[in-house]
Amino acid sequence: MTTNRTFTMLKPDAVAANNIGPILAKINEAGFKIVAMKYTRLTHERAGEFYEVHKERSFYNDLLEYMSSGPIVAAILEKDNAVEAYRTLIGATDPSKASPGTIRNQFAKSIAANAVHGSDSDENAAIEGSFFFSKIEIY
Ligand code: CMP
Repeated sequence: MTTNRTFTMLKPDAVAANNIGPILAKINEAGFKIVAMKYTRLTHERAGEFYEVHKERSFYNDLLEYMSSGPIVAAILEKDNAVEAYRTLIGATDPSKASPGTIRNQFAKSIAANAVHGSDSDENAAIEGSFFFSKIEIY
C-alpha cells in the first residue's frame, strides 16, 4: 500500500547556496503540497539518530558532521504516490548519476552534499516526518 506523504530535508549545502527558494519552486511545480515545514539545525547527536540505519557504513561519521554543519529545511510533502514521485523528482543519490532536470542534477554538489533527502519508503516517511513534526504542526 502506498500513502500520499513523504518527508524531505533541504540539506546544509542547498541552504548555504541560497537554493531553498528554487528547490521549493520545483517541489511546488511538481504538484506537491507542503503540509509541514521547519527551518532548523541538527546536532551531531540528532543527525546520528536520524541516520541510525546507516551506522555501520563507512561514511556515517562524515554524514553526521556534514548534516550538523549548518541549518536545514525539513518538510512533509503530499501528493499521490508521494515517496516514489518525490524520489523521481530528486534523482539518484549520486548527483553525477541523477537525470537531467532532477533536483540533485541541478543543485547537488556531491554524493555527501546532495542537496536533498527523500524518504525511501512509506514506513520511513512516517518515521522521519514524526522525527521533526508533532501532529499539531502538520496541516
Ligand atoms: P540521503 O538520501 O540523505 O540518505 C543517506 C545519505 O548518505 C545520502 O543521502 C548521502 O548524502 C549519504 N551517502 C550515501 N552514500 C554515500 C557515500 N558513498 N559517501 C558519502 N555519503 C553517502
